[in-house]
Amino acid sequence: MIQLAPSILSADFANLEQEIKKVEEAGCDMLHIDVMDGHFVPNITLGPPIIKSLKNKTKLPFDVHLMIENPDQYIAQFVEAGADIITVHSETCIHLHRTIQLIKGCGIKAAVALNPSTPLVMIENVLEELDMVLLMTVNPGFGGQKLIPNMLEKIARLKRMIDERGLKIDIQVDGGVNLENIKQIAEAGANIIVAGSAIFNSTDIPETVKRLKENASS
Ligand code: DX5
Ligand code: ZN
Repeated sequence: MIQLAPSILSADFANLEQEIKKVEEAGCDMLHIDVMDGHFVPNITLGPPIIKSLKNKTKLPFDVHLMIENPDQYIAQFVEAGADIITVHSETCIHLHRTIQLIKGCGIKAAVALNPSTPLVMIENVLEELDMVLLMTVNPGFGGQKLIPNMLEKIARLKRMIDERGLKIDIQVDGGVNLENIKQIAEAGANIIVAGSAIFNSTDIPETVKRLKENASS
């Protein structure tokens, strides 16, 4: 079963509470929160205080995608703010195994993200430790970009790698997902799908969420 994680990056920031209610009522499964520091990626978004202020407004789990340098330094703050799962980028972690332990030691789920140009081998030695792997299908930094087509093959290779080891690890895909390509992404092996602009820029969010889920499993 496909889970949908709307990215609030494309939501109306002046009305976040209502925007979150809309996707929760529409049947989405978790809230994808993109944290950007202006260093690792060329954009700045939000931090722990905003996340904390949203925590009691929804029952949806908080899926926090950290696109920041030195993530170790901030993990405790994001956990305290209400993160249920924290994703760090392999490109930002010199001691990736240590960072994963740090997240899990806080009692929440840990995930690692790979940029489109980063090979799967970067997570080979930590795969057993992970709850989820996030494959970026655009270069991170902005919503509304186009999915890079050869990432589909990368999703399929990751799925094989996980299955061959008999592991149960979620595969999340982030960037450029829309009604047309969600089926291929799900078929390649992703089971948690992030969608920002496809959901929040749509004029009928409940209908779009329903169709995304239908198309994914058609
Ligand atoms: C990109 C972010 C994504 C982005 C997805 O850097 O990590 O979560 O908001 O937005 P769409 O679905 O519009 O590509
Ligand atoms: Zn993201």
